[in-house]
Amino acid sequence: MSVSLRNAATTILSLHLLLFLVNANSSIDSYKTLKMIFNPNATVPQSPPRTPAFFKDFTINQSKHTWARIYLPRKPNSIKLPLIFFFHGGGFLFYSPATAYVHSFCTDLANKTQSVVVSLNYRLAPQHRLPAAYEDSVELLRWIKTSNDSWWKRHADYSTCYLMGESAGGNIAYNTGLRAAAIVDEIKPVIIKGLILIQPFFGGTKRTPSELRLEKGTNLPLTVTDSMWELSLPVGVNRDYVYSNPTVNGGDKVLEKISLFGWKVGVFGCDGDQLVDRQRGFVKLLEGKSIHVVGRFYSGGRHGIFMDNNTMSEKVFDLVKSFNS
Ligand SMILES: *[C@@H]1O[C@H](CO)[C@@H](O)[C@H](O)[C@H]1NC(C)=O
Ligand SMILES: *[C@@H]1O[C@H](CO)[C@@H](O)[C@H](O)[C@H]1NC(C)=O
Ligand SMILES: *[C@@H]1O[C@H](CO)[C@@H](O)[C@H](O)[C@H]1NC(C)=O
Ligand SMILES: *[C@@H]1O[C@H](CO)[C@@H](O)[C@H](O)[C@H]1NC(C)=O
Ligand SMILES: *[C@@H]1O[C@H](CO)[C@@H](O)[C@H](O)[C@H]1NC(C)=O
Ligand SMILES: *[C@@H]1O[C@H](CO)[C@@H](O)[C@H](O)[C@H]1NC(C)=O
Repeated sequence: MSVSLRNAATTILSLHLLLFLVNANSSIDSYKTLKMIFNPNATVPQSPPRTPAFFKDFTINQSKHTWARIYLPRKPNSIKLPLIFFFHGGGFLFYSPATAYVHSFCTDLANKTQSVVVSLNYRLAPQHRLPAAYEDSVELLRWIKTSNDSWWKRHADYSTCYLMGESAGGNIAYNTGLRAAAIVDEIKPVIIKGLILIQPFFGGTKRTPSELRLEKGTNLPLTVTDSMWELSLPVGVNRDYVYSNPTVNGGDKVLEKISLFGWKVGVFGCDGDQLVDRQRGFVKLLEGKSIHVVGRFYSGGRHGIFMDNNTMSEKVFDLVKSFNS
């Protein structure tokens, strides 16, 4: 796998630096700061010589600059493959499908799970606060059926779709799932079978024990996640808003539909991530709604480990394969 750990470390470091800056002085123009610090080298060449999956980019909505990168395994093992919609992380503020670690993960995901993968370039905060990213994701689901491209037509099994995301992308996959479950007839032939949420980014005003334990951890300090919510939630709401805290009001009513549809939900987390208690709480919430949920929690680790550590990425690929068998 070609992911550069140095690149990932550099971008994560820049991200921390930026958020400390934003947090330290709220009058800083965060958009300019973001542009200035964003690592322009965190992309890969367009044609890596021995890639395990082919890819190409599609415009989704020109007026919003949304686009998607679609991946097809180099050697598809059957005619029709499951379709995975992937949403990258970055606190709703950073990155794109072209970011090195995102691209590398999606390439492996397509090859190792033998799926067609679609990685969306959704609009970022703070210039486009939530629900912009959720709206772009639903638009992607609607867009798929209007596309005549041979990769979709020939290889994607629309009746076996998953929404997958990591960190903020896990939050987007979940909130997109809620919206999609409310309009299943409108997005046909896309039929969602489940959600795979990798260290999903959830929040709330009351601190959890893991947040307090890892408050000043260098991996993802609480000041950083607080700033991310400040910059991405709608103006005037706090972290107990439905977008950030899935447990408010006892959970969304649409979860009952998700239970009836029989969606499978996988949630990945690890103890070295301050978000882990919220992820465990989320699994409990879904269990309480009789949803088929599989929580996969590991000791140690850190936020982001499932993306750039092959051993941990394999655990995600294995769950996808088990959902499909
Ligand atoms: C915040 O940034 C502004 C503009 O750069 C500057 O004038 C102000 O002194 C800064 N405030 C603090 C507390 O650093
Ligand atoms: C980014 O890439 C350019 C062009 O290859 C190079 O000159 C520059 O040093 C790189 N910057 C970093 C931070 O790696
Ligand atoms: C694609 O996945 C298969 C099965 O896991 C693996 O054996 C193969 O090495 C992968 N191909 C590449 C180029 O990584
Ligand atoms: C593209 O985005 C614009 C602006 O939000 C919107 O008015 C339009 O309906 C979108 N197009 C499609 C095909 O969804
Ligand atoms: C897809 O093909 C159909 C039938 O050939 C055509 O009516 C439609 O306009 C095409 N859609 C796009 C987006 O090209
Ligand atoms: C990947 O994660 C495993 C399990 O946490 C750990 O043992 C291993 O050292 C990690 N590898 C790298 C390269 O960080």
